[in-house]
Amino acid sequence: MDLEIDFRTGGSLRRQLEDALRVAIRSGRLVPGSALPPSRDLAEQLGVSRGVVVDSYAQLATEGYLAARRGSGTRVAALAAAGIPPTPRQVSPPNRFRYDLRPGQADFHAFPRAAWKAALIRALRELPDTRLGYANHRGVAELRNAVAGYLARVRGVVVEPEHVVVCCAASQALTVLWHALRHQGGRRVAIEDPGWRWQRFTVEHAGLEAVPVRVDADGMVVSELAAADVDAVVMTPAHHYPTGVVMTAERRGALIAWARERGALIVEDDYDVEYRFGRDPVASLQGLAPDLVAFVGTTSKTLAPALRLAWVVPPSHLIDDVENVLLVTGVTPPTLDQIAMASFIEDAALERHLRSMRRRYRAKRDVLVAELGRQLPKVRVSGTAAGLHVLAWLPDGADEHATAMRARQSGVGVHELHRHCTTQAPSAPALLLGFALPTESELITATRLLAEALC
Ligand SMILES: Cc1ncc(COP(=O)(O)O)c(C=O)c1O
Repeated sequence: MDLEIDFRTGGSLRRQLEDALRVAIRSGRLVPGSALPPSRDLAEQLGVSRGVVVDSYAQLATEGYLAARRGSGTRVAALAAAGIPPTPRQVSPPNRFRYDLRPGQADFHAFPRAAWKAALIRALRELPDTRLGYANHRGVAELRNAVAGYLARVRGVVVEPEHVVVCCAASQALTVLWHALRHQGGRRVAIEDPGWRWQRFTVEHAGLEAVPVRVDADGMVVSELAAADVDAVVMTPAHHYPTGVVMTAERRGALIAWARERGALIVEDDYDVEYRFGRDPVASLQGLAPDLVAFVGTTSKTLAPALRLAWVVPPSHLIDDVENVLLVTGVTPPTLDQIAMASFIEDAALERHLRSMRRRYRAKRDVLVAELGRQLPKVRVSGTAAGLHVLAWLPDGADEHATAMRARQSGVGVHELHRHCTTQAPSAPALLLGFALPTESELITATRLLAEALC
């Protein structure tokens, strides 16, 4: 038997022999049913003691790789190789676009590493040993207190810390809400069309039916909700994704009246409201009807998606079911990160960071809009007043998909508007252009490449 073992690589001889045998079986070099040499022979061949081989055979027999039968020696077990992939291939980080204008990115180069590191180190140093056990599934007290204060102050959310539930992401918060809704008998959820397609995915993944409802220049067309026959609606009223429309006060009123009459849940996805250029953000919908609205906030835009920290304030009748979903799935952000985030908010580091990011993003947005005007004069730009992307409406007859493909081939990551449409075809072809991540000079080059890609 030809076993490639280099006994100088470290670890015990027995461990190395076992690893070599496992790899040989997994890769199919030792096929099921084939006989292994008697332990004495293999020991001699490898220059190890017989005990090493005997113990290795016994261990692999316990694991199901080998079968030892009196009289017929040790063989590779029949099931051993079936379906076991050969030696695993390394995973590599995803390829990034040279110019990444895909919406949904923040400026990761400006992540406040020093302040975050200080908050993390303090959390690690000060956390009592006893708090290394299971934390409350709604989140740690420090962060729920901090988030409640922040949301009340900045977003006009009506909230007791007791009602704040910490999650790993807005998408997780949505998933948890849908499971809780389903537990209470809900079946159908209205989604914005166009809208953030991940919202639809979360609805469908939770076993509910997503019902698209049109969005116009005033926000979701609330009058069409009645016909949709839904138990809940998910939306981005403060800054519609992807068009940037702000829901009017009239529509907000009509929405709340509809939800109250129907007993429906409104889920407010407040994903990027911190970025307003030139006007104050509209306050949250939740503040108008805390008994009907679940408010969802995330740090994916304010800091970075890598933190995996978000929160949800559900109406009180859903809280226990929400907590139960977290309890059974066991998916909650790490205690240390939550405590770091709490001090990050309490020490005003978050608000300081946001103040400087608003200036930075405004400058980038100005560069992108100016360059689009200069290099792509036939393109109309909308959705510039807030958020981290704009909509670039291509000239009549342009091919949205082909243009986006060509842009991507030249290293410019963009999204087609159609990606975020369920049934409503937009009136014209358009691209979503994020300006958060590239530098200003990269935005200029990317716009040139976009102009070349337009077809
Ligand atoms: C509408 C909307 N909601 C939420 C998010 C962020 O979600 P998460 O916290 O899951 O990263 C995004 C990200 O692009 C988004 O576009």
